Amino acid sequence: MSSSQGGPNKEAAHATIEPAKGKLGIMIPGMGAVATTFIAGVEAVRKGIAKPIGSVTQMGTIRLGKRTENRTPLIKDFVPLAGLDDLVFTGWDIFEDNVYQAAKTAQVLANEQLESIRPFLETIKPLPAVFDQYYVKRLNGTNVKKGKNKRELAEQLRADIADFKKKSDRQVMIWCGSTEIFLQPSAVHQSIAAFERGLEQNDENIAPSQIYAYAALTEGIPFANGAPNLTVDLPVMQELSKINNAPICGKDFKTGQTFIKTVLAPAFKARMLGVAGWYSTNILGNRDGEVLDDPESFKTKEESKLSVLDQILQPELYPDLYKDLYHKVRINYYPPRGDNKEGWDNIDIFGWLGYPMQIKVDFLCRDSILAAPLVLDLIMFLDLAKRSPELRGLGIQEWLSFFFKSPMTAPGLYPEHDLFIQSMKLKNTLRHIQGEDLITHLGLEYYD
Ligand SMILES: NC(=O)c1ccc[n+]([C@@H]2O[C@H](COP(=O)([O-])OP(=O)(O)OC[C@H]3O[C@@H](n4cnc5c(N)ncnc54)[C@H](O)[C@@H]3O)[C@@H](O)[C@H]2O)c1
Repeated sequence: MSSSQGGPNKEAAHATIEPAKGKLGIMIPGMGAVATTFIAGVEAVRKGIAKPIGSVTQMGTIRLGKRTENRTPLIKDFVPLAGLDDLVFTGWDIFEDNVYQAAKTAQVLANEQLESIRPFLETIKPLPAVFDQYYVKRLNGTNVKKGKNKRELAEQLRADIADFKKKSDRQVMIWCGSTEIFLQPSAVHQSIAAFERGLEQNDENIAPSQIYAYAALTEGIPFANGAPNLTVDLPVMQELSKINNAPICGKDFKTGQTFIKTVLAPAFKARMLGVAGWYSTNILGNRDGEVLDDPESFKTKEESKLSVLDQILQPELYPDLYKDLYHKVRINYYPPRGDNKEGWDNIDIFGWLGYPMQIKVDFLCRDSILAAPLVLDLIMFLDLAKRSPELRGLGIQEWLSFFFKSPMTAPGLYPEHDLFIQSMKLKNTLRHIQGEDLITHLGLEYYD
């Protein structure tokens, strides 16, 4: 970063963020469609055969100072992020397939593209997983750890992590595993001591994803939750995160239908247009779709998808516009479509004097193609947070809400769902940690 790009106190603030030296080790529980599309994509970009489209850290810029200053560096030149060449990978799955085979099964990327990076992908083989079919009814695999109780399983994960620490200088864990059954916080989640007792006693409120998070945070490793699972939305994890300077964020990648929803809903509210109903349905044929076909896993996803509209539209503030809104979300497993999900939205809105109108959105998307760049950005930003003295001890990284359907916040705060406020929050956080002026968009000074 040249000093001409910096603000008044930039140099001093910049010095406090540790540089991104050495290898960044990426640890992924769940090496299915999203994880393999992400890893293959990073390798394709490294080899110069594709571009990292959709990645804010790789393609995004950030405006600094006044509009007249013309300072708009790339984000990756403005904050010290790991380079793609420094990323190394490991992970866990209940299936033994290496990343090449798993990517073939997922059928997201073209065969020709996969063949060109096959030798690299074949070197990454998932470690045996911590898994219990009670929590994901539609899956069954053999690459699974065995132990007397959940504490032993946690220790085996910590041993895997310790091993990977020898091969990398810093680490980040990101959950790309399946959606588990719907769980709620219970007594076992209220403190580290209670959780550790629960591990010993095989408490059924402790799902596998929580055991991975516990192992990572105990080892001081940041953790991102890409699924709608409860995982880190728990006092025990927030406590571990703070005391071990291991940032956390989640949950549930905001990729397709909800991404569009959080763009449209704020627009209706900004114009004071009413919404009478919002019906969202999906057909999806990948393994995620199969897992979500189980009512217990679907409930976890449904809660995450439903929360968005109420929080954006604030019916309590605007009863005439949103009090009677009928919101429905459906996901239907339909194998012929594979990973190429189709999401339909029918939106019934109303305008001046209450006259009704309709909007139809038909998003023929590619689930993992949308999710992979989010995985990359979250890893890059969590690693940055871990190296930033201002961010690493905060626990929850609310500034990463941009990437999630159900953003985590401090207890008692309602989450921000509006994509553009989330984007501003993210960029202002980057400006803040680099000692740059925040951008308020007031702009009166141009007319003095
Ligand atoms: N693709 C998207 O747009 C998107 C958006 C939001 C959330 N998600 C979530 O991301 C996750 C991954 O999606 P996907 O399409 O890659 O699904 P997938 O089914 O292809 O991959 C998930 C993998 O996790 C493995 N797994 C399950 N439990 C595990 C455990 N305890 N330990 C280790 N591995 C385990 C499964 O065997 C599978 O290989 C899902 O929870 C999904 O709901 C995806």
